[in-house]
Amino acid sequence: MATIKVMTVAGLAVLGLSGGVRAQDCDPGKSGYDLTGEEAAEVYDCIAEGLKAGYDSGPKRWIPAEFVADYRGWTAASAFPAAPGMHSERFLLTFVNDTGAEAYMQYAEDPVIPAGTVIAKESFSVSEAGKVTPGPLFLMQKVAAGTSPETLDWYYMAVAPSGAPMGLDVMTACNECHLGYDFQGGLGYPVEDARISN
Ligand code: HEC
Repeated sequence: MATIKVMTVAGLAVLGLSGGVRAQDCDPGKSGYDLTGEEAAEVYDCIAEGLKAGYDSGPKRWIPAEFVADYRGWTAASAFPAAPGMHSERFLLTFVNDTGAEAYMQYAEDPVIPAGTVIAKESFSVSEAGKVTPGPLFLMQKVAAGTSPETLDWYYMAVAPSGAPMGLDVMTACNECHLGYDFQGGLGYPVEDARISN
């Protein structure tokens, strides 16, 4: 959708103004493919405040505002921002609310995830040229059993870096791929090195 592209550009503008940190100031100057976990964590420390300020901007409409406001206070499931796969330039950091932290952080096959669990995943990317760009905040909410069997009772939502809720067809944009992880209850889990266990 054309609007999403516009929102992403607006998001960068918001980041430039909020928190006093411009995303460009956080460029590692080194390809995302070559960053160690420690270096990715340094980039994150630099953009973290601006990233959150971006997500917090503006109305959340159909997305429960408290998910976005509160997720940084939840339990972190990733020890550092990790890029899944050998050649991904997108770095991810996962947080789980109190209802679901214990169950999620076993990274089990066939996990029993309680209704009311909410998982938030922040993202940013580092290009081959070493430039950092804020990415969306991805959200999954576990709803009561039987509410949405075709998504394994997950609701999917995403917030653009500008804070605008992203108008996506979550069935194709999110659910199709997550159903490939049905042996893990629809969960992908952070890469093993980055997982924090409870
Ligand atoms: C191409 C496959 C794919 C698509 C499309 C996709 N995801 Fe994921 N998602 C994954 C994988 C793989 C993981 C685990 C990797 C990681 O977090 O490091 C994951 C993890 C997550 C997590 C953390 C919980 C978990 O599964 O461990 C959330 C929240 C999430 N995705 C939300 C979304 C939303 C919202 C969308 C749609 C806007 C979406 N995803 C689209 C593959 C996908």
